[in-house]
Amino acid sequence: MNPRELEPLFKPRSIAVIGASTKPGKIGHAIVKNLIEYGFKGKIYPVNPKAKEILGLKAYPSVKDIPDEVDMAVISIPAEKVLNAVKECGEKGVKVLVVITAGFSEVGNEELEEKLVKTAHEYGMRVLGPNIFGIAYTPHKMNATFGPKDILPGGIAFITQSGALGIALMGWTILEEIGLSAVVSMGNMADIDVMEVSEYLAEDPNTKVITIYLEGLKPGTGRKFLEVMRKVSEKKPVIVVKSGRSERGAAAAASHTGSLAGADKVYDAAMKQTGILRALNIEEMFDWARAFALLPLPRGENAVIITNGGGAGVMATDAAADYGVNLMDPPEDLKEKFRKHMPWFGSPKNPVDLTGMATPKEYYGAIKEALYDERVHSIIVLYCRTAVCDPMELANVIIKARDEARRDGIEKPIVVSMIGGEDVYEAMKHLNRNGIPSYPIPERAVSALGALLRYARYKGVVKQ
Ligand code: ACO
Repeated sequence: MNPRELEPLFKPRSIAVIGASTKPGKIGHAIVKNLIEYGFKGKIYPVNPKAKEILGLKAYPSVKDIPDEVDMAVISIPAEKVLNAVKECGEKGVKVLVVITAGFSEVGNEELEEKLVKTAHEYGMRVLGPNIFGIAYTPHKMNATFGPKDILPGGIAFITQSGALGIALMGWTILEEIGLSAVVSMGNMADIDVMEVSEYLAEDPNTKVITIYLEGLKPGTGRKFLEVMRKVSEKKPVIVVKSGRSERGAAAAASHTGSLAGADKVYDAAMKQTGILRALNIEEMFDWARAFALLPLPRGENAVIITNGGGAGVMATDAAADYGVNLMDPPEDLKEKFRKHMPWFGSPKNPVDLTGMATPKEYYGAIKEALYDERVHSIIVLYCRTAVCDPMELANVIIKARDEARRDGIEKPIVVSMIGGEDVYEAMKHLNRNGIPSYPIPERAVSALGALLRYARYKGVVKQ
């Protein structure tokens, strides 16, 4: 496909909302409200045969009455009325349809779904959905969903085959301050599918990493999926949570979106071949995505752990074995450098244990050594809350060390885990906002670094 065909889906100049409602609480109302309040810069045209005005915008009885070109139509009227609206959109010259309405193949109504796509194609229109919560593209200030309004902009694109989960995760990403470039609800994928959206996003300069919640593919599309996703992975990291892993889970997926879940082992092998990073759950997916969105890829295998707590260091060491992160044995000269930043009872081996005596000054010194030593390729900073080390001060010295190295042309991934209470949580937020991914337990930080390494190996940045 030509990814440019999806341009009107992500960057429409004008949007008609068919089924826009005057009544708060209805889906057609929420979509218009989100479009307005999120700051969509293009034109918004509510369509409703009974209303004169919706949320301060002039409403039109039919899409055909709009005195302007319409790039995208969001359709939110009952299923039995959709075909007629699609025809009218076609006559109007609409380019892409976002069909929110449920009641198609997911409930056995394949015939209506086929007619919907056939009619749209007759007029040269593409269809997202049906059975979706909409689409958002933050660089264009477009939130054409009935999910939460204030999506935080960022480099992660999120494609989801589950509607309710997708909406819920939109809210969760806001709370967790995870920045998104796009949110795309796929629903029944009657026309536009995950592959096509991924291909588009692979070319999108505002998207650094693509995340997908996938239940299954349409029958007969497996091989194409492999071909397409291999190309997409060459350009950008793709992280997938593929549910329906168990037999019962697969059956549940089939009745949810009408897709074939297929044998999990086949999916697993296929994903590995194509460079797709498979996350076990959505927390892991967004943990990894945050790291990809913020960090450079490591240029080699050698990682060091810098910690003030032996226990956290041991947990991270176990996790490193689990996630394929190589903890280097620092050569003597490097150990000597680390020794300068710890009391005599600390350990310069890896984990580099600065001990519970460590203040931000010792962390800063040890992190700088690791950053400026060519043999170290990535750094895991661990912190347990102590009375002698303020978490926000620590966050600031980590940022300072990273910035100073950057000015000297040194770019290495740093992941952080901070364990503690409220002030620690605030410090982690501060780090995340400043481009250093931080996690509340060591395993999650190591797992994120492991994902970076797997992708770096796939891309050949790190030689295996
Ligand atoms: N053109 C324009 N507007 C029309 C038309 C038409 N041809 N026909 C009706 N309307 C108006 C109605 O008058 C109404 O406006 P009003 O509230 O001002 O009177 C509005 O469009 C909506 O029509 P209703 O008949 O009230 O339909 P309702 O809003 O109850 O339901 C909906 C429509 C939401 C599309 C419903 O049929 C549906 O499919 N719901 C499920 C949606 C869904 O779950 N999608 C998957 C999301 S993901 C997830 O799982 C969360």
